[in-house]
Amino acid sequence: ANGLFTYDPGFMATASCESEITYIDGANGILLHRGYPIEQLAENSDYIELCYLLLYGEVPTPAQREKFESTITRHTMVHEQLTRFYSGFRRDAHPMAVMCGVVGALSAFYHDSLDITNAHDREVSAFRLIAKLPTIAAMCHKYNIGQPFVFPRNDLNYAENFLHMMFATPCEDYKVNPVFAKAMDRIFMLHADHEQNASTSTVRLAGSTGANPFACIAAGIAALWGPAHGGANEAVLNMLDEIGDESRIEEFVDRAKDKDDPFKLMGFGHRVYRNFDPRARVMKKTCDEVLTELGMENDPQLRIAKRLEQIALEDDYFKERKLYPNVDFYSGIILKAIGIPTNMFTVIFAMSRTIGWISHWNEMISSPYKIGRPRQLYKGYTKRDYPTK
Ligand code: SDX
Repeated sequence: ANGLFTYDPGFMATASCESEITYIDGANGILLHRGYPIEQLAENSDYIELCYLLLYGEVPTPAQREKFESTITRHTMVHEQLTRFYSGFRRDAHPMAVMCGVVGALSAFYHDSLDITNAHDREVSAFRLIAKLPTIAAMCHKYNIGQPFVFPRNDLNYAENFLHMMFATPCEDYKVNPVFAKAMDRIFMLHADHEQNASTSTVRLAGSTGANPFACIAAGIAALWGPAHGGANEAVLNMLDEIGDESRIEEFVDRAKDKDDPFKLMGFGHRVYRNFDPRARVMKKTCDEVLTELGMENDPQLRIAKRLEQIALEDDYFKERKLYPNVDFYSGIILKAIGIPTNMFTVIFAMSRTIGWISHWNEMISSPYKIGRPRQLYKGYTKRDYPTK
């Protein structure tokens, strides 16, 4: 009514929190960020503008955008002492393990001077996180492959800077392919926020205790890592590798339907969507664009993915359960085409989602809030006396 949503009391009783940031209609496959459909944002906006929209609630004017973007650019370097945290990890540590540790370590640099009751301090925390996560993420990759860290550059935009830090070396610069940069920015946008998913709820719960925001984001990264959540994009590529050939697709679809087999079709299904994930449609279109640009439209993994999607969407098991491709189904194929290693896929999801996490954290902390305390359905013993000897 008059542009505002109203809910039946039954739904309100189950809601874990109130928010004005993102709206999802799972039955109809709708995703709005501050009221704007994700399809329109993906087509007409970019990640930096979406960060501003999620954080402040409105699309920035050109002057607001310029100030916001230049502030982010000038926060992209990390404290030189932070780089020493990497050397404590084994070289072959999963980049998500390193990311979790290093982002948590940021709280050691920004704790005593940070007053979360102060709006300016909260805003600077957001700037630091949006700006430093790509640098930290690219450093996770460089550490993993034994190459020196590459500094961010102020003459590159957000997506170009990330790709440059990922692939440049001191011996040979990396010229960013504009198709890759646009696809990277699109992937950042499609992963930016998604209402009260498991990792965002984790950040809100940690934040509700008044904990340091950098530590809260590290908690969100830990929650996102699971294969049922953000880890699915890496799991999709591993699944497509395991399928290996279109002739084996039916075998894997049957396994996904077999209750005795723990295998699930990675990149399919969702806790909320009972229709196409609108992000998956945009991701599929982006995937086609990138691979066509590269002359890879016949890429074997893309062929398997498209055939798998077609078979699953026609299968009664998936239709009855309203299981559709989600945001993770095609993203990995794009990232692989750009040259991103599989073990960095969830790191990129975490980097993209940081704006969602910090926007929800800021929304909660900037208005009266109580510590989170989920209740349980106790199904254990009633009171009983301890057996006397
Ligand atoms: C993300 O919450 C968010 O918003 C998350 C996210 C975000 O942006 O933050 O959208 C990102 O996490 C996307 C999801 C990525 N995960 C995967 O792709 C992993 C594969 N998907 C499944 O693990 C699963 O679909 C979940 C975890 C996503 C949802 O699991 P649920 O809640 O159990 O799904 P459901 O209740 O809809 O399941 C209904 C039925 C069950 O079978 P029955 O008990 O009814 O017989 O469908 C089955 C499930 O076992 N099912 C699947 C399946 N997903 C659900 N069977 C085979 N393959 C699958 N992928």
